[in-house]
Amino acid sequence: MGNYNLDKMQHHILICHGSSCKRNRAEEITSAIRGEINLLKAGSILVTRTECLKRCSDACNAAVYPEGIWYKEMTPKAGRKLVRKLKKGKLMKKHISYHITNNKEAT
Ligand code: FES
Repeated sequence: MGNYNLDKMQHHILICHGSSCKRNRAEEITSAIRGEINLLKAGSILVTRTECLKRCSDACNAAVYPEGIWYKEMTPKAGRKLVRKLKKGKLMKKHISYHITNNKEAT
């Protein structure tokens, strides 16, 4: 695999693959997100597996940058929706647990 062209990157999705998130479908969610990226030709969205994001009780977690939004209790369906929303420049309101830019946890 060659180098990903960072010039085209608009969003970076970090998907937790720590033990709690793995038990809560992290691999399936990652596949769903990558499938949707391929389907929509959304190559500007980069996906990376991470180690524990330290929010295990919210598993499965994903963080999206540069938006600085963390999502909890992700599912494959939510992962596909997240890609569609990002492609349209919109937020996926459901599943937000934290928004870094306003330093607030979602309630
Ligand atoms: S295992 Fe995912 S946040 Fe800890």
